Amino acid sequence: MNTFLQPFGATRLIFDAIRESHDLQRDLCRKLTASRSDMAARELLFLQLKVELMAHAAAEERFLYVHLLMEDGGLDASRHALHEHHEVDELLDELSVRDKKQDGWIGTAKLLSFKVRHHLKEEESKFFQVAGRLLSDMKKEQLGRRYAKEIVRMRKHYAAEFQSVAVSLASGLVKPAKPEANKPAARGSADAGATLRGRSKPRRTL
Ligand SMILES: [Fe+2]
Ligand SMILES: [Fe+2]
Repeated sequence: MNTFLQPFGATRLIFDAIRESHDLQRDLCRKLTASRSDMAARELLFLQLKVELMAHAAAEERFLYVHLLMEDGGLDASRHALHEHHEVDELLDELSVRDKKQDGWIGTAKLLSFKVRHHLKEEESKFFQVAGRLLSDMKKEQLGRRYAKEIVRMRKHYAAEFQSVAVSLASGLVKPAKPEANKPAARGSADAGATLRGRSKPRRTL
């Protein structure tokens, strides 16, 4: 079954729910780094990826890593993962400039893609195993339900900062908005993300 099409409210273990977003992130990274002359398409792909990464990190921190942090055996994995989330945030801030054709932009986008792929692989091959040992089956199901609701809520929260992306009511996924509203917004969602996470405002936003 295509994981993109799973109902977002269905009961699943936390790891299954998280993998759905991981697959989306890999797909968007691949499309973004392959983007060439069509700057409108590049802009849209970047915003979709940015919203997905920020929503996923928030939901994952709240409904996986907070619970691992409370276990002695989960400290190293959760600290490492949160550090990598912060590195991804910084690259998103750096890429949130109006001119995405400028020298170095696609190189930084490729670095972001590399970091994201590294992080996802580490979570799936190491951190999920740590969590699998530390969390009960009932907890994994409960966290899966809460994560699935939270990521949709956070996608809506971050997507609301842009006119060109929206969250589908049917799937709960980030999609391009209707063509008539398909113009870049004046500000980026990094401000909202920074506020939510208690950070200072990013250096550059859209
Ligand atoms: Fe993560
Ligand atoms: Fe993740």
